[in-house]
Amino acid sequence: MIFRSGPKLSKTAQEAAAHLHAGGALDHGVRHAAIIMDGNGRWASKRGVPRFIGHKQGVEAVRATVRAARDLGLEALTLYAFSSENWKRPEDEVADLMGLLRHFIRADVDEFIANDVRLKIIGNYKALAPDLVEMIDDVVNRTAHNSGTTLAIALNYGAQDELLRAVQTLARSAATGEIDPAEIQITHIDAALDTADMPPLDLLIRTSGEQRLSNFLLWQAAYSELYFTDILWPDFDGAALKAALEAFSSRERRFGGR
Ligand code: IPE
Ligand code: IPE
Ligand code: MG
Repeated sequence: MIFRSGPKLSKTAQEAAAHLHAGGALDHGVRHAAIIMDGNGRWASKRGVPRFIGHKQGVEAVRATVRAARDLGLEALTLYAFSSENWKRPEDEVADLMGLLRHFIRADVDEFIANDVRLKIIGNYKALAPDLVEMIDDVVNRTAHNSGTTLAIALNYGAQDELLRAVQTLARSAATGEIDPAEIQITHIDAALDTADMPPLDLLIRTSGEQRLSNFLLWQAAYSELYFTDILWPDFDGAALKAALEAFSSRERRFGGR
């Protein structure tokens, strides 16, 4: 973790990442970016078409963004696809989103394999339909040894739910005597979260002009740079990702230092 392993504080994000990478950082300095993909509904209503069309076009934006993330050398890209609160939406919209997800996982697995992309899921995805869970587990296993970009998709994800599950894990370890509650460290919490094996979150992007976190990566975003853009998610692409990374490289990260 950036602020616990004690690297020298540096002037720019780029230099900070360079410390972490011991010289291996790419120019933009971002190892891990996450995106709250918002605005599909507004994109559709601006065009007078059903929301489904916005979600469908949103999948195309996902494809373009994953390709760009890989080309731009990101170690990890986390995409907020379905929140633990999105079940509140009308049943037919939830069904449309699940259908698009099913199609995406099935249609894009070959491209993941060809491009060394590792698929990971964060969130309580086991609560999704059994056939979808099976399909996801299969693709996660088939891409497990890929070492290029990790694509983490947040499904039935809520940061509070993730923290709750982590607390339950730690409480179970304490109850069995495996861990002394007084010895629980921040690193134990990191390790109990769904993002355990991922690099620290450098950059958190939200599209569509909204400026809130909507229960996304609350713990992991402790020192992330936040980037808000008015672009509606279906219009997001590689150029938009590049613009966010460029904005990041001009930020000055301090991690509480001066
Ligand atoms: C994001 O677009 C997609 C999901 C949350 C699944 P929205 O569907 O939230 O679009 P808006 O916010 O209504 O425009
Ligand atoms: C956040 O968007 C969730 C996803 C992008 C999957 P929402 O559209 O659900 O968030 P709110 O309701 O505007 O906060
Ligand atoms: Mg929205």
